[in-house]
Amino acid sequence: MGDDSDERMTVEVVEVSPQIHVPHEGGSTVQGEVFRQLLQQAIRVADQANAQSVRMAADFAEMYRREAAIRGEYEAKLKELRLMEKQTTRYAEDLAQMLRTERDRREELERALQQERLANEELRRTGLQGISHLLLAATLKDQTTGAHLLRVRRYVEAIAKRLGLPEELVEEFGYSSVMHDVGKIHTPDHILQSEHHLSTEEFDVIKQHCIDGELMLGDAKFFETARAVAREHHERWDGQGYPDGKSGTEISLAARIVSVADVFDALTSKRPYKDAWTADEGMASITQGSGAQFDPDVVAAFQDLEREGIIERIRQEVGSAKLY
Ligand SMILES: [Fe+2]
Repeated sequence: MGDDSDERMTVEVVEVSPQIHVPHEGGSTVQGEVFRQLLQQAIRVADQANAQSVRMAADFAEMYRREAAIRGEYEAKLKELRLMEKQTTRYAEDLAQMLRTERDRREELERALQQERLANEELRRTGLQGISHLLLAATLKDQTTGAHLLRVRRYVEAIAKRLGLPEELVEEFGYSSVMHDVGKIHTPDHILQSEHHLSTEEFDVIKQHCIDGELMLGDAKFFETARAVAREHHERWDGQGYPDGKSGTEISLAARIVSVADVFDALTSKRPYKDAWTADEGMASITQGSGAQFDPDVVAAFQDLEREGIIERIRQEVGSAKLY
């Protein structure tokens, strides 16, 4: 549409009364002149009105075009927004799907881990049952008893705990300790059960049980500590033991602990060739061997346990217990 001044001007022109100049000479000439002037004025007004309507039409067309452009732009924006909304929805769905997949995968992994744990536990039980059978064979041959092995295990666990070892190691040292003499299965009965002093040759055969024990326990990780214990439980802190003459911390800690527990229990148990010593006598012998046969730290821990009455309690508890 045109601006305000154009509009005002048009209105003025349309509303103005015709200023007709009337000549003094009368007759038809005068009337003709008036008519001509009126006609010319009417034509001017019509031209102006026509021009105005053309302008208005142009303005209207312009306005319509702008409005159409705005509507088009609006629709394009709307379309864009809808597309964005769709994309956002799809993105959210994808994300939700990813999370679901991730959760499923995690659950599957947890199930697999649980199965693995169960399988490991089963394997461990199988291993321990295998040990029991091995030990049964060994003890029958050696004429030691299940109670001896159980007491050794309890002493070993008590010492390991007293030395501040973590729970898993305490347990591992415990079950490993019961296999220390497993190699005796290979030792001939007449040597094993001899009630008299052994000859050097016979003693060499006895020494072999450490090496045989280590070999019998194979190469599984589960028996790593048990192998070290079987091999080293007759080694001495001062290097005078067998079969390798290792000394000090060359000997595994598990074997150093088993050594104290095994000797103490052998001394305080009745054997075919000797009576049982009292706990005090056994303790005195262990104390005497500190720093020579035994690791002083292990002996100190054992003395603590003895003072606290734990050794006596284990002796009483295991008296009536069964190993198998
Ligand atoms: Fe032994």
